[in-house]
Amino acid sequence: MNVDAIECLLHRVSVPKLTEPGPNKEELQLLLKAALRAPDHAALRPWKIVVIEGEGRQQIGRACLEHAITANPELSSTQQSRSENLLKRAPLVIAVAASPVEHPKVPEVEQLLSAGAAAQNLMLMAHALGYGAVWRTGEYAYAEAVRNALGLAEHESVVGFIYIGSADMKIPDAPEHNISDFVSYIG
Ligand SMILES: Cc1cc2nc3c(=O)[nH]c(=O)nc-3n(C[C@H](O)[C@H](O)[C@H](O)COP(=O)(O)O)c2cc1C
Repeated sequence: MNVDAIECLLHRVSVPKLTEPGPNKEELQLLLKAALRAPDHAALRPWKIVVIEGEGRQQIGRACLEHAITANPELSSTQQSRSENLLKRAPLVIAVAASPVEHPKVPEVEQLLSAGAAAQNLMLMAHALGYGAVWRTGEYAYAEAVRNALGLAEHESVVGFIYIGSADMKIPDAPEHNISDFVSYIG
C-alpha cells in the first residue's frame, strides 16, 4: 500500500495490538532503507539495528525472562510467561540502538537523536506500507541480559523496540494538537 506522505506524517498513530501477517521480505527491506535514511550529522551511521522475527523473538524473550527473574526471584509463573512472550506481541520487532562514536564535532546526544530518527522512520514506513507499529522501551530495553542478547557493546543503548504487524484493533484517529501551545514565532 502506498500512502500519501502528508497523510502518513499527520495521521500515524501507535498500534499496540498487532498480529500476523507482518511485513514480507521486500517490505522489510523498505523499512530498513527508511531507517538508514535518518538525518545523521557527519554520516557517522551511529546506530545498530537488529531485526527480530520468528524464533528470534523467543531468544530475546528468554533474555527478558532472565532479567525479570534476576529483578524479582519471586516472579509468578504467569509473570514469567508474560516476560518471555513480550516480543511475540508482533510478527516483527526491530530493535534500534544508538552506537555513538567519538567525534570532534558531533556530540553523543546528536548521535542518539539520529538513532531516534531512524526509529521514527521505521514507524512512518510501517504506516506507509499499511502496517501498524508501536515504539516500546520499558525496563527490558535497558536490561543487561537483553542488551547482551542483542549483541550491544557497553557504549551502545537501545532507543526503541519497534513492533510491527497488522493492526488487531480499530486504529484510533490521531489527536489534534493546538499548535500555539507548543510553538512561538519570531519575525
Ligand atoms: C523513546 C520512546 C519510548 C517509548 N516507550 C514506550 C513503552 O515502553 N510503552 C508504551 O506503551 N509506549 C511507549 N512509548 C510511547 C508510544 O510509542 C507512543 O508514541 C505514545 O503512546 C503516543 O502514541 P501515538 O504514537 O499514537 O501518538 C515510547 C515512545 C518513545 C518515543
